[in-house]
Amino acid sequence: MSEKKSPSGTHPPIPLPVTDSAVAAPQSTRLRKLFGLTLILVNVLVFHTFFLAPAARWYKNSRGDFQGLSTHPHGKRHFIWGKEAEKLFLSVPNAESAIAASRQFATKPHLAGSEGDLQTAKDFLTLLQTELGIESGSTEPFLEAGSPASRDATNSIPKTHKPKAWIDVYYPVMNTPLNRTLAVKSADGEIVWEAELEEVADDTDPEAGKYYDAVPTFHGLSAAGDVQGKLVYANYGRKEDYDDLVEKGVNLTGTIVICRYGGIFRGLKVKGAQDLGAAGVLIYSDLRDDGPVTEANGYLPYPQGPARNVNSVQRGSVQFLSVYPGDPTTPGYPAYENSTRTDGDNIPKIPSLPISAANAEKLFKLVAEAEEGAEVHLVNNVDTKVTPIWNTMAVIPGFITDEVVVIGNHRDAWVMGATDPSSGTVSVHEAVRGFGALMKKGWKPLRTILIASWDAEEYGLIGSTESDRWVEDFPEFIDKHVVTYLNLDSSVGGSRFSSSASPSLSHFLREAALDIPHPTESGRTLWDARNDVGPYGGEIVDAESVAVSQSVHAMTDSVGVSPLGSGSDYTAFLQMIGVASSDAGFGGSGQDAVYHYHSVFDSEHWQENYADPGFHRHVAVAKHIGLEILRLSSAVVLPLNTTHYTYELENYLNGIESIALDSSVDVDLAPLRKSIVALQAASHSLDFEKASAEKDLRKMIHKWAKRQSRLKKKLRRAYCRLKKALGHPCHGHEGFTPGHGCAIGKPAHSGPASKLRVGRLPAFLDEQQGLGHEVLYGLAMHSGFGEDALGAAPPRFPLARLKKAVRRIRAVNQKLVGFEKGFISKDGIPDREWYKHLAIAPGKWLGYGATPLPALSEAIQYEKNATLAQYEVGRLTDLIDKLADQIRVHA
Ligand SMILES: *[C@@H]1O[C@H](CO)[C@@H](O)[C@H](O)[C@H]1NC(C)=O
Ligand SMILES: *[C@@H]1O[C@H](CO)[C@@H](O)[C@H](O)[C@H]1NC(C)=O
Ligand SMILES: *[C@@H]1O[C@H](CO)[C@@H](O)[C@H](O)[C@H]1NC(C)=O
Ligand SMILES: *[C@@H]1O[C@H](CO)[C@@H](O)[C@H](O)[C@H]1NC(C)=O
Ligand SMILES: *[C@@H]1O[C@H](CO)[C@@H](O)[C@H](O)[C@H]1NC(C)=O
Repeated sequence: MSEKKSPSGTHPPIPLPVTDSAVAAPQSTRLRKLFGLTLILVNVLVFHTFFLAPAARWYKNSRGDFQGLSTHPHGKRHFIWGKEAEKLFLSVPNAESAIAASRQFATKPHLAGSEGDLQTAKDFLTLLQTELGIESGSTEPFLEAGSPASRDATNSIPKTHKPKAWIDVYYPVMNTPLNRTLAVKSADGEIVWEAELEEVADDTDPEAGKYYDAVPTFHGLSAAGDVQGKLVYANYGRKEDYDDLVEKGVNLTGTIVICRYGGIFRGLKVKGAQDLGAAGVLIYSDLRDDGPVTEANGYLPYPQGPARNVNSVQRGSVQFLSVYPGDPTTPGYPAYENSTRTDGDNIPKIPSLPISAANAEKLFKLVAEAEEGAEVHLVNNVDTKVTPIWNTMAVIPGFITDEVVVIGNHRDAWVMGATDPSSGTVSVHEAVRGFGALMKKGWKPLRTILIASWDAEEYGLIGSTESDRWVEDFPEFIDKHVVTYLNLDSSVGGSRFSSSASPSLSHFLREAALDIPHPTESGRTLWDARNDVGPYGGEIVDAESVAVSQSVHAMTDSVGVSPLGSGSDYTAFLQMIGVASSDAGFGGSGQDAVYHYHSVFDSEHWQENYADPGFHRHVAVAKHIGLEILRLSSAVVLPLNTTHYTYELENYLNGIESIALDSSVDVDLAPLRKSIVALQAASHSLDFEKASAEKDLRKMIHKWAKRQSRLKKKLRRAYCRLKKALGHPCHGHEGFTPGHGCAIGKPAHSGPASKLRVGRLPAFLDEQQGLGHEVLYGLAMHSGFGEDALGAAPPRFPLARLKKAVRRIRAVNQKLVGFEKGFISKDGIPDREWYKHLAIAPGKWLGYGATPLPALSEAIQYEKNATLAQYEVGRLTDLIDKLADQIRVHA
């Protein structure tokens, strides 16, 4: 992107004296003056030629392009930062481009590991290359995961000064469907009925019509098997549903369990049945979960209307997500081509199939009518093998390259996935265009930005956790350098905006949403869309279904943001490493067109006609996440609110207290309460330090700019004296382009900018400590001081104090980033040790939903073991005490 400057461009504008002139002063004084001034100028020139310019050249070369500065149309340098950068960014995402991107990504199947998926990996790479000004090179940059080149691509990010993009290839174990059968057999073994298992459709939705059997309906990571048994209905297949059956004396051994989708992650429905000895599981889409938008209420089924197409089937992974996510065969380590494989403890041993509402209805009817002894026959054949997948990655380097903000979204879909995940891909697409536009105008973030398009999320978060096991592949890099992870999955599937995040990001997320206009209504904001409802009202059929869906979505903090459970790619960042994370987008309101989750009907036609006609929601989400990335990557002090987090911990504890009361488990929570209160006090001391450190830094940068301005004045005066000595008139504005140095406190672009002049020999130690020139300049520029105000180099004085102020800021940011890590325990949560975060985890029996203080909560709620609960209180208290020591700032 940025236009390169010739080395001569770094010379200060020292004008050469002109020599014809009328002379006024006596010859001798004049000569003396002339001699003295010439001496000064010669000195300056010598200094410049032999010291400053080579140093500047060295410096420039050593760090590549000075990305943040480009030449203005009028040849003036201009640095874009703060509100101006935000405004420019927000002007870029637009509906036409979003629709075009959606048509590019969502009109063909792109199941993880397929040809279509590979094509989308390349398409996304092209986007990154085009928008971020990355040369595409002669070969496609596919890097074998685990190879030196792939390891270097990520590990060298803290030393990367030019934008780059690449594709990492991982090799997880996945399966694809071969053939399946679902039949009802009479007592004497005759086939009464065999189900049509595909999602047959006409051409009203052109892609659904064309690709209805491109990815046969099946469960990802399901077990192969041929089983037969009595059919048993288990409602939602939750723990309480199975407990209920056991209590009623139903013996599940050898049965085929049928349960409805909803409430919890589907893999856990299978786990519950397997644990009780079932032979197989069917999971069906239930019309009762469609709220008022049903044919019974007069709505036409899709594609003729907004109600459910009764042939639609929800595919999806049946991994035991709450045990561990990622490639089942490489738990805790990356899935390279030749990695050692285990059998996998997080996948079912019994077969399962997803089925449509129509098939479920038929099945229930036939079984009810059948004579004694009728059974259900279930066959599931899958091809399980090591499969390549592709994570497309790109880096936008900041001034501070060892602090990295990550934005990620998975790209693979069950079929075409216009909502899941292509709506998120489209929003990231638009955000990337915004970043590109900024870079072309001379913007450079303070911190480095990493953009990730994950693969194979659908099989069980494989791209970000495992296959890419990117997190498992680069835990040290992430632990040391990633400051936050912002995830998008489905950005639009309905009309209601909702968000989940680490509590430290709640306020930040809300404020950004308040700064984005509502996608369709003037005078409202994106944040207001949290209460929006869709256009399809009517009588609600099933009260239990409403209650279940509300319980999944109800838990929000005082700001209105939910805690993160699992079900998307933030899981490994948050639960394994302790990186503050977030996830946001538009979902169903209960009165929207029925979303055909993981079905062929999650299509472009549905998206354009029902989910987001006009694509304004896609654009609003793009603006929101882009604005967040701009702010996170450019704030001097990271906008993480640890105090809010400590208040939430107190709420979590209150919740535990009532669970303990309900379960009559006698556990002493007082020590934990005391630790949380101490953590709150420590966080307050950090809040004070945040403000004070930032003020101190601004003061030092002011001093630096002031000094620069004085220096310029001195040089100008000397120049004027020289001119006068030669008999020329001298006006204040001539020569050394004065004035910019005086623009203290004003944004860099408020005056015409001068040329970049970088001087001083490099101080290797400073670079290593993150106090190099690049960092100093970046902090100053993102505080509103142009390079023109700051001059060629940081001054000798107050350099030491300036560096001290920067060191202080860096220490504060480290504490802020370290806060979430304070909850990581290397022993993890009992029975599912992959999950290491003791403040929040996906519920053991929820999967998507979050459980606060999970190890403690489960010891009380499920184990009902006071000894174990007290032990968990001890573990939490220790972690929180240690964390308080880490973040406390002594005045
Ligand atoms: C189904 O797949 C299995 C496993 O590959 C195979 O043995 C069987 O012959 C197939 N059945 C049909 C009807 O294609
Ligand atoms: C359930 O049935 C199986 C055999 O069908 C039997 O072995 C098992 O003991 C039964 N379990 C209970 C708890 O009755
Ligand atoms: C994996 O093993 C195969 C067979 O030994 C070999 O051809 C291939 O190069 C190996 N891949 C890597 C990345 O080492
Ligand atoms: C941090 O969170 C607390 C508690 O919610 C709130 O009172 C405070 O205003 C927040 N600070 C910022 C800067 O958002
Ligand atoms: C309760 O937990 C403790 C500590 O883990 C364990 O030793 C004990 O066996 C458990 N008690 C029961 C009844 O499970």
